[in-house]
Amino acid sequence: MDAIARPKIVTLDEAQALLAKEPELIVVFDQNVAWVLESLLGDLPPAKAYIGLESSEESKTMDTVLALERQLMEADASRGALLVAVGGGITTDLVGFTAAIYKRGIRYANVPTTLLSQVDAAVGGKTGVNLDHYKNMLGAFRMPEFTLLCPEVLKTLPEREFKAGEAELLKTFLLRDAKAYAAAVKNGVKNRPELILKAASIKADIVSRDPYEKGERALLNLGHTFGHAIEHLAQEKGEDITHGEAVAMGIVLAARLSERIGLASKGLEEQIKADFEALGLPMQSPYPVQALGEAMRKDKKAAGGKVKFILLKAPGEPVIQELTVNEAIDDLR
Ligand code: GLY
Repeated sequence: MDAIARPKIVTLDEAQALLAKEPELIVVFDQNVAWVLESLLGDLPPAKAYIGLESSEESKTMDTVLALERQLMEADASRGALLVAVGGGITTDLVGFTAAIYKRGIRYANVPTTLLSQVDAAVGGKTGVNLDHYKNMLGAFRMPEFTLLCPEVLKTLPEREFKAGEAELLKTFLLRDAKAYAAAVKNGVKNRPELILKAASIKADIVSRDPYEKGERALLNLGHTFGHAIEHLAQEKGEDITHGEAVAMGIVLAARLSERIGLASKGLEEQIKADFEALGLPMQSPYPVQALGEAMRKDKKAAGGKVKFILLKAPGEPVIQELTVNEAIDDLR
């Protein structure tokens, strides 16, 4: 297979038909969602190996990848094997990277079990692990054979994790579909599989046009420049803020910056805040902009002075704006 093609998003029936044809399946699953194996993949021929993982940010490391590589060797996995990753974004990132380097690359497929991974992490072929406290510092682009979107698996997802996924989904709609954004804000996306599929499809479209993030794909970082700084500070202070929560706060800051530099009309920040509040998403960074600026300067993306901020003229109209951290922070004060 071409290493990069349009990300393929499939239903349960389609996934089962594709997997049934595979002679050599190896399933790597997050032990917290082991039940998904039986309920989704139960009717398939037995896999050559089932490998359980304790997926956490701390275990998203090269050591875990190497342990997986050894398990693949022990299972005598050939170059024709298909790894099936069952879990959230940490699991699909780990398994994708393991597949990218085993015997110079084997195939993998994603069965994401969180909303966040269904609409973002498991679509688009970014794989990788953390290095020390730097997130996703090592990795590779490797497109999954397919990503299975199944609403059933979200039924047991804790509310807070669901909300975190909603933040990424709203981010995608803010980039490319103001109508879908309004629909998602109106009633949330619980029991709205069509909106989840729409967000994943918009991401797949962006990735198909720019798989290696030379341009348009960078838009998917809306809310992430500030969000990463918030996550970084939270980690330093031992405070509990999820990625999705940090992204929600980051989108609000991006909206404020868009207004302050005259890109968006007045009111965008207030509108987004009101929308997020109605959905129960956090809106306010607990850290002052000065502290965020310091964290951003340390971020890998700040190397070279200017940072690519993803800003909004309005919902559905993103703009990439290069600014130094100082310029952005001065405008936000
Ligand atoms: N999570 C952003 C991207 O896949 O490009």
